[in-house]
Amino acid sequence: MSRPRPLASAATPERLPPAPGQGLAARLRRRRLALGLRLGAPDVLAVIERVKRERLSYLDRASLVDLALAVRALEREGLEGELIEAGCALGGSALVMAAAKAPGRAFAVYDTFETIPPPSAADGADVLERYSEIRDGRASGIGGDPYYGYQGDLRPPVAARFAAFGLPLEANAVRLIKGLYEDQLHPQGPVALAHIDCDWYDSVRVCLERIVPWLVPGGRLIFDDYDHWSGGRQAVDDFFRGRDGFRFERHSRLQVRREA
Ligand SMILES: C[S@@+](CC[C@H](N)C(=O)[O-])C[C@H]1O[C@@H](n2cnc3c(N)ncnc32)[C@H](O)[C@@H]1O
Repeated sequence: MSRPRPLASAATPERLPPAPGQGLAARLRRRRLALGLRLGAPDVLAVIERVKRERLSYLDRASLVDLALAVRALEREGLEGELIEAGCALGGSALVMAAAKAPGRAFAVYDTFETIPPPSAADGADVLERYSEIRDGRASGIGGDPYYGYQGDLRPPVAARFAAFGLPLEANAVRLIKGLYEDQLHPQGPVALAHIDCDWYDSVRVCLERIVPWLVPGGRLIFDDYDHWSGGRQAVDDFFRGRDGFRFERHSRLQVRREA
């Protein structure tokens, strides 16, 4: 979905460093680290370029690079646990995660694989306005493509994309799990990293409630929506208020790490 303006005056949680990590030093550091993504197979930077060229992700390049770097870091550190993505849409960020991980590491991708469910009273006016566009058939997709939520069952095309990128699902331990998180998301073992990209309050909140108990020490949550949608931000603030043992880090997006 197209990005709204960043929230200008939303409350900042107590422990969140203010700098969004987009300054020159941060960009140079990311570029130097990103060069490492070319090493080994597959070439993750090439996957990111292709994802962007084929208009498969709403994330910008810097966010996709940071996501890949976080996955590579947990492989280097030897963290145990599966990867999770909550919010796949056309599959772009999931392809990048799959390319960056070790082929045998389990990766569970959750989505309705249809249109996004409605927001709730916990979301703000920005979300309600966006959802009314979607509901009324007025939303357009990336670069003017048809909006993904109007394309029917997205699971077969997403599976085909994994194969076309040389990352077939089964050989790469990737599962596409269709349905509402409320019904389907029940991790059963350790989680090393979760990419939470599902926009609305209730969706982000249910992910946090279900995933965080399984997050290993040193494991990360990466939030796409903290700076974009009021409800996504509020869900993070509400969940972590008064909880110790987590470090908040600003990369291109908010990352929360369970302290070791
Ligand atoms: C912004 S899109 C994900 C974008 C994707 N990560 C990318 O690279 O472009 C958000 C996705 O979250 C999914 N979603 C949101 N709430 C959900 C819920 N409660 N259950 C299942 N899927 C949900 C929507 O169906 C949608 O596909």
